[in-house]
Amino acid sequence: MLKILEHIPENDPLAKEDQKALIDQIISEYREIPGATMVILNELQSRVGFVSESMQAYVAQQLRVPASTVHGVVSFYSFFTTQPRGKHTIKFCLGTACYVGGVDQLIEKAKQTLGIEPGQTTKDGLVTFEICRCVGACSQAPVIVVDEETMGRVKPSRIPQVLKRLNEIE
Ligand code: FES
Repeated sequence: MLKILEHIPENDPLAKEDQKALIDQIISEYREIPGATMVILNELQSRVGFVSESMQAYVAQQLRVPASTVHGVVSFYSFFTTQPRGKHTIKFCLGTACYVGGVDQLIEKAKQTLGIEPGQTTKDGLVTFEICRCVGACSQAPVIVVDEETMGRVKPSRIPQVLKRLNEIE
């Protein structure tokens, strides 16, 4: 994985001077504290917006921990993303009640409308399409979460309208 550092993509935060400085600052600020790996990854996610493969390798190298440890943390916790998020996020609850309530049809409709798969972001960077676990609104299944707003009893026909609204509030 550390080989990745020999070929950092041009658009990676590590290839940009200001972002690299921020990454270095975060690492040096927290490297001595207990649980440094998790804390640093968390800070990178919230201040840079995501933790790319190169950033993971860089953290591993700087902290002298195995690359697999860093990668394991990033893949275990769903709040880490390895690519920049879109301006808006639409999440589809795949908890039991929502599954039984037909969320798969909503997901299918979103795939068709957005032209991307769950876990991806539209090319214009506007919408990130995600699957999530129960958000605690099971009585309103099937549930989607658009940015911070939870919407219940959503029908497939409503999906294009919801996505169109995101375009408008760009
Ligand atoms: S299962 Fe979807 S909100 Fe609980």
